[in-house]
Amino acid sequence: MTPPTSRPGTPPAAFDISRRAFLKRCSLLAAATGLPLWFVERQQLAAAEVTAKPGPNDRPGIALVGCGGMGRADAGNASGYGQVVAVCDVDATHAAAAATQFTVDGKAPAIYSDFRKVMEDPAVHVIVNATPDHWHTLVNLAAAKAHKDVYGEKPLTLTIDEGRHLIKAVRSSGIVLQTGTQQRSSQRFRLACELVRNGRIGKLLQAKVWLPAGLRGGPFKTAPIPEGLNWDFWQGQAPATEYVPERCHGTFRFWYEYSGGTMTDWGAHHNDIAYWAIGLLAPTQVESTRLAEPIAGGYTTFSEYAVNYTYANGIGLQINTTKDDTIYGGVVDPKGQRNGIRFEGTDGWIWVNRDEITASDPQLLKTPLPDNAIRLYNSKNHMANFFECVRSRELPICDVETGHRSATMCHLGAISLRTGRKLAWDPAAEQFVGDNAQLANTYVAREMRRPYDYSFVG
Ligand SMILES: NC(=O)c1ccc[n+]([C@@H]2O[C@H](COP(=O)([O-])OP(=O)(O)OC[C@H]3O[C@@H](n4cnc5c(N)ncnc54)[C@H](O)[C@@H]3O)[C@@H](O)[C@H]2O)c1
Repeated sequence: MTPPTSRPGTPPAAFDISRRAFLKRCSLLAAATGLPLWFVERQQLAAAEVTAKPGPNDRPGIALVGCGGMGRADAGNASGYGQVVAVCDVDATHAAAAATQFTVDGKAPAIYSDFRKVMEDPAVHVIVNATPDHWHTLVNLAAAKAHKDVYGEKPLTLTIDEGRHLIKAVRSSGIVLQTGTQQRSSQRFRLACELVRNGRIGKLLQAKVWLPAGLRGGPFKTAPIPEGLNWDFWQGQAPATEYVPERCHGTFRFWYEYSGGTMTDWGAHHNDIAYWAIGLLAPTQVESTRLAEPIAGGYTTFSEYAVNYTYANGIGLQINTTKDDTIYGGVVDPKGQRNGIRFEGTDGWIWVNRDEITASDPQLLKTPLPDNAIRLYNSKNHMANFFECVRSRELPICDVETGHRSATMCHLGAISLRTGRKLAWDPAAEQFVGDNAQLANTYVAREMRRPYDYSFVG
């Protein structure tokens, strides 16, 4: 998209505090976040170079597609950089609530029920896509076709095949697409990945990821379709079923028809960090163990599982579920296993999650990296990074390719769980190879229920 008004080189925000005040602020930040002082200082210096927020006359028009919990939070963040001019949902109640939330000075956003119409609205420059996973790709493809930039929620896709379609569309249209894997814009996760990449724990041997266990429940009853909900449109490409409340808002993530359980929900975050630190395109092998079977007539995803990946260079990635955290990441058992990522190398380990970063030896974190160290993409605010890229046309930190690759890791794990087989993956060809390839490759794409297949968005 072309930004709504020309914005020739916004000057960097002035770095106008004294050295003493700067050091004091860094010390306080280091104490509050548990991050080493050297790292906080470098962060703060870099922050001074970040371009300022757009001014009041330079605010792109934002459309929120998918007005549930996350969508309204995302649009709230986005409204710091633009104006929410449209909201869209297949549930009229959700659209109306979002329209009220984003009414400014008596001016309400336009309300749509079909996202294809949003794409025709000239006041809309940017799409925030927070639909359930099974709708992500078609909305993003429609946006690319309409040359509108996208902040698209994770996991980027429902299938690996969708990712390939999307990369092609994003590249040929030139839109900016940021995947909503905001952990990459957290200093703590970036520090862990930079340290691992620079050999701070020696040779990386394995990464261990813990994801909250998913919900196991059912059987569930059908119910009348709530007023205002277009249930057929909500189901989209997924096989049509009678309305069951647990299939819909919020808990759709525990059905393979619409999502992939915590493997793709939390996995989209923590596997993405493992992928960032390991730095290789994809694993070459995956095998898994189901630790709890779904209940007939209930959620279809596996709630507890263990998945082991192997990379071409021998590095291992183990994924396990924990019941000591809730599905939202809250603590159930304070002494139990937190969700997060542990990197294990020949010279030590680093543990990182949304609350803390620790290491086998505190010096591993405290000693600054040398000037010539490998540096990873540095974004301090995921939404700000998106809007900076909307202006600059640079790639955002979680560009479509990154979003696709981290979603692929999750899909590979889910496919291994669903087939119950040990699988070999060719990262370049993006196909399963070897013994169980024929069965596993049937999961790389899905049959999309008409009319909600690729032709739905032209
Ligand atoms: N980045 C994060 O940390 C994070 C956190 C939570 C959720 N998410 C992601 O955000 C997405 C939404 O999750 P949620 O918890 O808000 O779900 P939700 O069920 O609360 O909201 C989804 C909304 O999308 C609407 N919708 C469904 N199909 C639509 C369509 N075709 N067009 C327009 N609207 C449609 C639904 O009616 C609903 O209002 C998911 O993909 C989830 O993985 C990300």
